This record gives sequence, structure tokens and C-alpha cells, in this order.
Amino acid sequence: MTDNREDGSEWKVLDKAGGAHEPMMINLEGTRVLKQLEADRTREAFAYQELSKTALGAFLCPFYGVKRLNESEYMELGSAYAGMQGPTATMDIKIGKKTWEDDASPAKVAKESKKFDEVYSQSSAMDGFRVAGMKAGALVLNSGNLKARFSLRTEEFGGWLLPAFLAGPPGFGPLPAGNAGLSKPDNQNCDIDRVAAVEMLQKIKAISAAAESGFNGTLRASSLLFTREMRLGGRWAIHLIDLAHYSQPSENVGIRDDNFCDGLRNFVQMWEMWCNDRPGQWCPPRLCCGARK
Ligand SMILES: Nc1ncnc2c1ncn2[C@@H]1O[C@H](COP(=O)(O)OP(=O)(O)O)[C@@H](O)[C@H]1O
Ligand SMILES: [Mg+2]
Repeated sequence: MTDNREDGSEWKVLDKAGGAHEPMMINLEGTRVLKQLEADRTREAFAYQELSKTALGAFLCPFYGVKRLNESEYMELGSAYAGMQGPTATMDIKIGKKTWEDDASPAKVAKESKKFDEVYSQSSAMDGFRVAGMKAGALVLNSGNLKARFSLRTEEFGGWLLPAFLAGPPGFGPLPAGNAGLSKPDNQNCDIDRVAAVEMLQKIKAISAAAESGFNGTLRASSLLFTREMRLGGRWAIHLIDLAHYSQPSENVGIRDDNFCDGLRNFVQMWEMWCNDRPGQWCPPRLCCGARK
């Protein structure tokens, strides 16, 4: 399906890997995407403007402003697939144990806490990160099959998620049924791009250092979006996305966002230990993360 814009560019629905909201659009050249703005989501456009002035600005997708298309308003962003060719793989990692803002209503806090306790309490979310979506060949993780298996345990990141994301063709097989820790997709004899893994580690360390240096607020329910060409030596990119829950509490300026920084630090530590392990010898790190409250 394509849609024409007044300026002549054409858009089609993006096959997105994660995300709880409306479909996004991507232009035919694959260089820009449109994310719909609803009521209070003009906040996300505000977050792009504010965060671009901080050390995290270097890791955001380019923001080209708010555009109208067929009666709706969208943010126009640089595509995380720009410059990539052939089959691509995508991984969306949500950072932070606490997903609601400090001034959220008691009803929102109760709803999110219940979801956490019921679905995520045995998962990597306890360490402050979780996979929100992933696509690589036949392997597709989405909110449906992730919730059904209670997400992933931290040891499953090095056990199969990172290898599956970094696999060359043909990629891992589909996700079999079964709860977290008890089922995993088949590695169909794929080579794993360990060079890209080490390069990506450097980038997430840089993002973590930038976050530690402060960004004048708190980021809740944001993600690191990993994209790559699904071949060894292919192009890859990492961006900080989903900024709708960025806030700047006045008393918070200059204060470390422990929830975001701790989750990211644990994610980096997990990734680094996986890189340092010999293939097949993965031993998960011991992590600790603050309370959600
Ligand atoms: N700039 C982008 N380029 C390419 N894909 C993107 C981009 N931003 C988001 N996506 C895709 O859309 C998904 C959801 O994006 P996100 O901003 O988290 O939306 P939502 O508010 O619906 O959660 C991501 O997991 C990714 O697959
Ligand atoms: Mg999202």
C-alpha cells in the first residue's frame, strides 16, 4: 500500500519490529519514516528538540519536524535503515525497569505495576532492559509471543537473542512455543557477526556514557533500536527512539536518571560479557538494578 503526499513523495506502511502504537510509514527510498502524533504525543517532538541539545543528541534519529498527511500529524524522522540494502534485522530494546513517569496517575502506576508483576517479574526487565520486538529472517518476536512466554530471561540474551540478531543468512528459525528459559529458536548453522557485536558494544558504551553525563530529565519506556544488514560485515546502526515519555522535572536538572542509566549499564555489561565469552560458553553476568518505585 502506498500513499502520496502533496510534495510528491510516496509512503508505504513500515513493517515495524516493536511498538504499541499506530503503524508507521516509510518512504520508497527507505530514508525517512513518519510516526503519527496523537493528543499528548506532541511531547515526543518536544523531546527530540530538547534531547538534541544534550549529549544524547548524537544518538537520535534525525528529526525533520512535524508534517501533515491525510488529516493526521506525523513526526518525520530519518530511517534507521537508511543506506542499508538487502534483508535487514531489527531489535528494539526497552531500557529501564520503571516505565511510567514520576507524575503518572495512580491508575497508570497500578496498571503498569500489575503488568510488570504478571509478565516481566522473572525476565530481564528485572535488570532494567527487555526486548520489545525483534525481526531477523524467520524469527519474529512481538508483544504477542513475548508476553505469552513471559519475555526473555537475561541469560537468553547471550544464549540466543544476540546471536540471532547478529546472524548471517539464513538466520535462526521461528520462535517455538514454551516459556522463557525453556524454549529457543534453532540456529540454522548461521555464522554470527562477532566483529559487528564488538563495534556495537563500543556504541552502546558511548550512549551509556552520554546518558551518565546527564540529559536534563528522565526517559521512561524509551528504546535502543538496533538495525543491520543481515550479512557478515554488513552495515548497522543503533538509535535511541520512542521518546514520548521524556520529562524535565524542574527539581531534576543535573540529577542522574538512575532508572535509565542503571538499565543501560546492565545491558552494556551483559553485552560485554557475551562478547568476551567463547562461542557456546555464555555465562550470564550478575546484575543488580534499583527499585521501580
Ligand atoms: N526511525 C526509525 N526508523 C526505522 N524504524 C523505526 C524508526 N522508529 C521506529 N521504528 C520502528 O517502529 C517500532 C516502534 O517505534 P516506537 O518509536 O517505539 O513506536 P511506539 O510509540 O509505537 O512504541 C520500532 O521497534 C522500529 O521497528
Ligand atoms: Mg516503542
